Amino acid sequence: MNTILENIVTRRSVRAFNEQTINKEDLDQIITAAVYAPSGMNRQSWHFTVIQNKEKMEKLAGIMEKRLGMEPNSYHFYNANVLIMVSNEKDNQNGLADSACAMENIFLMANGLGIGSVWINQLHGICDDEPIREILQELGVPDHHVVWGMAALGFTDRKPEPRERKEGTVHYVL
Ligand SMILES: Cc1cc2nc3c(=O)[nH]c(=O)nc-3n(C[C@H](O)[C@H](O)[C@H](O)COP(=O)(O)O)c2cc1C
Repeated sequence: MNTILENIVTRRSVRAFNEQTINKEDLDQIITAAVYAPSGMNRQSWHFTVIQNKEKMEKLAGIMEKRLGMEPNSYHFYNANVLIMVSNEKDNQNGLADSACAMENIFLMANGLGIGSVWINQLHGICDDEPIREILQELGVPDHHVVWGMAALGFTDRKPEPRERKEGTVHYVL
């Protein structure tokens, strides 16, 4: 990866992870990238819950699937090797924006290391439902936090090509 722009342009959402494990050094760099994201008023009130345990991921997916009214065994995290929950204080008006900055840092750091990633979005609307909050507590997510997004991470055998961008989304005022 030569430049920051090359990293940004080549990042793609990956939805099929293989069994290769992310090593500790790489994961540490990804977490460092996350915590160095900007945050409104520099509050840094986020929390990163880094899940490497497959059984716990499967348990979470099962509980979410039920709550979302989905077919048994249809909801999963694409066989992610690591799942990072990005949560923030419920009353922080910048919670989503701060979390999104941290998520993008995670994705770009992962891409720079040859690791695939995708945003998983289904948790934030159901965080305070009882069975969901129970498992969030078990995983160590602070009670006064909402999970704004999860980053599923892992290696892939099917890295998607860069995508075309829509025309007409930019204009310059000179
Ligand atoms: C806020 C947000 C929520 C997303 N939620 C999901 C999701 O729940 N599941 C998923 O597979 N991809 C999800 N994505 C990934 C988008 O579908 C993806 O970024 C988009 O299709 C563009 O593809 P690219 O990331 O490969 O450029 C989400 C992305 C964002 C920014």
